[in-house]
Amino acid sequence: ATGQLLDSLQRPLRDLRISVTDRCNFRCVYCMPKEIFDQNYHYLPHADLLNFEEITRLARIFVAHGVKKIRLTGGEPLLRKNIEQLIAMLANLRTVDGAPLDLSLTTNGSLLAKKALSLKNAGLGRVTVSLDAINDDVFRRMNDVDYRVDQVLAGIAAAEAAGLGPVKVNMVVKAGINDSQIVPMAEYFKHSPHILRFIEYMDVGASNGWRMGEVVTADQILQRLQQAGMQLATLDANYPGETARRWKHRHHAGEIGIISSVTQAFCGDCSRIRLSTEGQLYTCLFATRGYDLRPLLRSARVSSDQELADGIASVWQQRSDRYSELRSSDTFVPTSASKKIEMSYIGG
Ligand code: GTP
Ligand code: 5AD
Ligand code: SF4
Ligand code: SF4
Repeated sequence: ATGQLLDSLQRPLRDLRISVTDRCNFRCVYCMPKEIFDQNYHYLPHADLLNFEEITRLARIFVAHGVKKIRLTGGEPLLRKNIEQLIAMLANLRTVDGAPLDLSLTTNGSLLAKKALSLKNAGLGRVTVSLDAINDDVFRRMNDVDYRVDQVLAGIAAAEAAGLGPVKVNMVVKAGINDSQIVPMAEYFKHSPHILRFIEYMDVGASNGWRMGEVVTADQILQRLQQAGMQLATLDANYPGETARRWKHRHHAGEIGIISSVTQAFCGDCSRIRLSTEGQLYTCLFATRGYDLRPLLRSARVSSDQELADGIASVWQQRSDRYSELRSSDTFVPTSASKKIEMSYIGG
């Protein structure tokens, strides 16, 4: 194990995101629009999913390469059968420094009230919950399956009570759909221990028909909060490469963050790699192709751990992705949408 694997832009590998299912029980308009993710949509067949042994084997190799954070995503990760079992296997891993991993999960919260305690007991460290509105009508319009806000709030409360906090609450802001909720969300969470983060709507995937006009920028979000009278003080980043810029309410306990993937890209310190449900490795959210690890895991002559480790190292060492930065440049040529992977396939 090297522990100091660097890509071609000298960025270390620190953060592994594992998508455990491409399915979701929500149809968020910016992620899995109903017109495309309908009854005819082809999800991955069960045999194509990496099993828990394969995922853990790969995770162990990533950790030996210096990964300190593992996040489980989807789709909706709590839809994966026996997910607690995988969490228990991952929780046993130790970083190259011998410390426990920062093990977290991103969920839409719908199954969290039911599962918070079993997730905690399995060894999960913390959760991030997506919640795009505090008003029921707006939330329903975002998730498009009539899910109610109180069901997600119950999940957040259960997670906090189970010791999975501080819970981060992620809100994707889409102009004209839920931007009316920026201030109400901040009001609602400012007294809470939960960290509310506003996310600029990104041009990921090929299904959501993204247009720049639908982005509410980080500056605009901040302005709306300040115009509503909120007194905010900046906080320093928790770690290099943190996605969110942070503020605290001057007169309240709460903290907020803004993730400006579109207007102020943070590729410079990006230490994230993503493993898809079927074993494709992606070095960027906007990558157009992955590296298929399944032949190494499943072919007649199964690769040794060392061969896998070498393969992964060479993928990282060749990495030069900085899509969000390039998008902002004058000479940017958009990737053909048909080639971009879906967020529901690779996770957040
Ligand atoms: P912490 O580990 O708690 O700091 O979480 P995080 O901010 O690293 O992860 P999270 O999955 O909560 O990220 C929040 C959102 O930021 C995601 O839903 C994406 O919209 C965006 N995001 C996360 N990682 C990346 C990335 O590598 N590139 C881009 N462009 N956006 C990202
Ligand atoms: N832009 C920004 N964030 C997105 N997410 C999904 N699609 C997008 C997008 N187009 C976020 C969700 C959730 C996580 C899984 O990814 O809000 O927090
Ligand atoms: Fe499901 Fe999350 Fe995508 Fe919404 S954003 S459809 S909850 S995976
Ligand atoms: Fe990392 Fe790619 Fe996101 Fe930039 S666009 S921060 S390189 S995942």
